[in-house]
Amino acid sequence: MILVAQVSDTHFDLGTRNVERAQRVLAFLADLRRRPDVILVTGDITDSGKYEQYAEAKLAFETEIPLYAIPGNHDDREGFRTALLGEPTSGGPINRVHRIGDLTIVLLDSSVPGAAGGRLCDETYDWLRDVLAASPTAKPILLALHHPPARLHSPIIDEIALDDPQRLTDLVAADERIVAVLAGHAHCAATTMFAGRPLLVAPSTASVLAGEWELDLPDHVMDYAPDPAVALHAIDDDYRLTTHFRTVPMGGRIGVQPG
Ligand SMILES: [Fe+2]
Ligand SMILES: [Fe+2]
Repeated sequence: MILVAQVSDTHFDLGTRNVERAQRVLAFLADLRRRPDVILVTGDITDSGKYEQYAEAKLAFETEIPLYAIPGNHDDREGFRTALLGEPTSGGPINRVHRIGDLTIVLLDSSVPGAAGGRLCDETYDWLRDVLAASPTAKPILLALHHPPARLHSPIIDEIALDDPQRLTDLVAADERIVAVLAGHAHCAATTMFAGRPLLVAPSTASVLAGEWELDLPDHVMDYAPDPAVALHAIDDDYRLTTHFRTVPMGGRIGVQPG
């Protein structure tokens, strides 16, 4: 079994609250009896893309578990690349591929500089096609990006989701190795189908954005009361995928009652 933890939308803003919440989740993951093989952070690492916020993220993300992040709409590629990744300046998308055993994880940069909505540019699609062509035959692939490519009944997020999702649909539907698509951005744990595969949206560690049935716009947008949460994706040896969504209490571990 390969265990993939997905943390999202940490929104580091130079305050202590969001750092403490993300660190609480990372400590929870590090303390698990079976540690995740990898942690993915699916965008909106910072709240406003400031260099100092990436420095904050770099410290907070120090863990013995391999951790890979992609940008969201609140991020800035320049700061992300230099202050978080420690890489030289370059204006293009931050796309990455990682292999963990049989599993290929493809991280796609759906951010559009200066825009809230998402889009995968031609460069990213060319890169993705090359990565898929070079990936092992009949082995599982997870695709991750910040902007969900489908509607989630989220009155704010649905307006700033992934643009032109059909282009990604065609690609995913044609590749049977892709077991699921992972996203963030929605600040809620949500699942739906996309191109015949599960679309799994990880909750934010910073706040919760309710569905359209709950929201009373514009008075009630974000709920900051709930504890942070994380998604855990288990890929079995037969490549079957199971996802758990886990809330991590800020007050410490909940006592386990025997029986
Ligand atoms: Fe966010
Ligand atoms: Fe976002």
